[in-house]
Amino acid sequence: MKTWWKEAVVYQIYPRSFKDTNGDGIGDLRGIIEKLDYIKSLGVDVVWLNPIYSSPNDDNGYDISDYQNIMEEFGTMNDFDELLEGMHERGIKLIMDLVVNHTSDEHPWFIESKKGKDSPYRDYYIWKDGKGDNEPNNWGSVFSGSAWDKVDDQYYLHCFTKKQPDLNWENENMRQDVYDMMRFWLDKGVDGFRMDVINAISKATYDDAKVPGDNLYGDVISVVWNNPKVHDYLHEMYESVLKHYDIMTVGETSRVTPEIADLYVREDRQELNMVFQFEHMKLDTDWCKWVERDWQLPELKEILSKWQTDLDKNSWNSLYWNNHDQARVVSRFGNDKDFRRESATMLATLLHMMRGTPYIYQGEEIGMTNIYFDKLSQYKDVEIHNGYKQLVETGKIPHDQFMDNSNKYSRDHSRTPMQWDDSTYAGFSDSKPWIEVNPNKSSINVEAALKDDKSIFYYYRNLIQLRKKHEVIVYGDYVLLEKDHDSLFVYKRRLGDEKILVICNFHQMTQTYHLPDDILSDSLEILINNYEDFELKNEVNLRPYEAVVIKY
Ligand code: GLC
Ligand code: CA
Repeated sequence: MKTWWKEAVVYQIYPRSFKDTNGDGIGDLRGIIEKLDYIKSLGVDVVWLNPIYSSPNDDNGYDISDYQNIMEEFGTMNDFDELLEGMHERGIKLIMDLVVNHTSDEHPWFIESKKGKDSPYRDYYIWKDGKGDNEPNNWGSVFSGSAWDKVDDQYYLHCFTKKQPDLNWENENMRQDVYDMMRFWLDKGVDGFRMDVINAISKATYDDAKVPGDNLYGDVISVVWNNPKVHDYLHEMYESVLKHYDIMTVGETSRVTPEIADLYVREDRQELNMVFQFEHMKLDTDWCKWVERDWQLPELKEILSKWQTDLDKNSWNSLYWNNHDQARVVSRFGNDKDFRRESATMLATLLHMMRGTPYIYQGEEIGMTNIYFDKLSQYKDVEIHNGYKQLVETGKIPHDQFMDNSNKYSRDHSRTPMQWDDSTYAGFSDSKPWIEVNPNKSSINVEAALKDDKSIFYYYRNLIQLRKKHEVIVYGDYVLLEKDHDSLFVYKRRLGDEKILVICNFHQMTQTYHLPDDILSDSLEILINNYEDFELKNEVNLRPYEAVVIKY
């Protein structure tokens, strides 16, 4: 079935780091309003906003204390209404982050719940007795430490920080309150939700979990994520809320395979439209992000190709390299030193020519890179500070290794301020931002990108336009070629008579490639290429990080 959300390209905004308008060093909604024409000029159809609700910000807004209010630092509900209107006027849809696996411990439900066993809100959360003097089981929080904390004589579960208690989805009243809250936003006119760790909402058993690598605790994800009942809840949510609106939904679901993803997104299941899978994001790290893993290009091809071909034909895929939880892709899978432009555009080509809905994370469109921090205190993310306590202070991981890998994989790399120009604070703010600006703002910034017709920005714009012009990019089949080649990623797409070939060089050395016989015809057309010119012949040369898309 053809739908608008299959044809759309999404732009993700992390409001805290996008644009500050009142000089407090924190991005705000008025900042987004100011930049709407910029967003429009990229050609995207949908914006996904990270959480903007009231929050004590233990985890930058993923700890919500009031779902129906705007975080003070970000502005007011009037600002929000104006933002939504400004987007709709420009033909851009808005999807919100829905964080309903947990709330903040400062949410009124939790404040009531922790008062005691007789509280009417007790069961909105998950409370258990300890095992003797110990926690109810060995589960570790995703952000280090135990997943349990004690208030009076019982423990509550928090898969993330202790300020993010998990909601109890078995409680019918809680579910109805969540659905009411969703209707509140949808009735305002928002166009959908990105659902935070949505595959974790059903807790099935409370047995101990396997301890990965050198961890001190059991792997909570392996026991809590993807339990069967999550599908009952999502279907109920669909029936009572989602199906009554023309919206799009995307679930954040780590640890899914295409087979598991089908259960969330196959059309006849009536749950979600698409999910974010994480397999390609786990390629370069081991049991935690501070332990690296060697990887080879054929592994990346295998993963991405599997997601192209193994999903059911009535399921839909989402495509991303970056988001607010990942390091910058040009620093991670590209070469941010000598071939920044080439590798950023190559990676973009590879992704945007695939089947699925592409997501662009703020700054990706100008090739923003990782930052370098040499002090722990420069990091703002709770994940880094908790990780340090659990792994370095206990002697599991040496300090230097922790710092090196944080410089590669910390979530803060994506959270440094958006680089608008080369001024002191990159045009993000007039005063010192909440997190350091990347010093490379002097050359990497929006102003410079807009002035240069060869910039990464215009290349992204062209990719987006191609998707709008050629149905094969959205709906075509996918076939991987050269699956064992260690430097080239080559694939074909096909829809009826429309056929394209995509060739991407992941290496800084030139590679020669013999075009497949079936495409050697006279009517070849170059749809896009990230170098000045491309010589079409039987044996083509792909320069460092070159990408080319040939229609045949
Ligand atoms: C998701 C979010 C991440 C957050 C976590 C807990 O993974 O993307 O930023 O920390 O959930 O809500
Ligand atoms: Ca501000």
